[in-house]
Amino acid sequence: MQIHILSVSPELMDSPFAHSIIKRAKEKGLLQIHVHNLRKWAINKHGQVDDYQYGGGAGMVLMCEPLANAIDELQANKKFDEIIFMTPDGKTFHQQMANRISLKENILIICGHYKGIDERIREHYVTMEISIGDFVLSGGELAAAVVVDAIGRLIPGVLNDETSALTDSFQDNLLAPPVYTRPANFRDWQVPDVLLQGDPKIVEDWRHEQSLKRTQERRPDLLQ
Ligand code: ADE
Repeated sequence: MQIHILSVSPELMDSPFAHSIIKRAKEKGLLQIHVHNLRKWAINKHGQVDDYQYGGGAGMVLMCEPLANAIDELQANKKFDEIIFMTPDGKTFHQQMANRISLKENILIICGHYKGIDERIREHYVTMEISIGDFVLSGGELAAAVVVDAIGRLIPGVLNDETSALTDSFQDNLLAPPVYTRPANFRDWQVPDVLLQGDPKIVEDWRHEQSLKRTQERRPDLLQ
């Protein structure tokens, strides 16, 4: 999978993709991430990519021209399955969306900044608008990093059996059960006996029960 990201703060994206599972996905050749600085397509030598909004009001808006030229140039080399715009008024991101996007070949993610991007780019280029929650970030970069992390680990072949995504929270609309590791007794806090008794079927039943209980207590909406 190739992920292209268009941003006015590309340096914000250095660290999130340089560690752990996403780093491994890149090393295995299963994921390529290309971060492009929108200022490369600035309208003048001052690096201008934004302007005041028509009708007045505080906050700058990313202009059509640099965005359209950037997307056209990137699209000339690559057909994108989705052009995603990160925005608080997009569809709220969830695991099933991550599953679906992880099966795509090539995607382009546009990070907004300031007041957002000119609406005409949303109308004419963007195929999917994603919010990571009902709050406003300073830009779309951290939100894009969240989305890339969530989809990157789902790309077939990235996770091995031990880290399988199948047992993640939300994968079957249930929260994950509690987990424990050694020692079995820490300050008299005991690991549940059921996990120490060795019958995998009993463990599996217990985990399912715990998942249901946890979901019922914390996220009953998921069970509806
Ligand atoms: N840009 C700013 N806030 C955002 C959010 N909550 N989700 C996605 N992109 C954003």
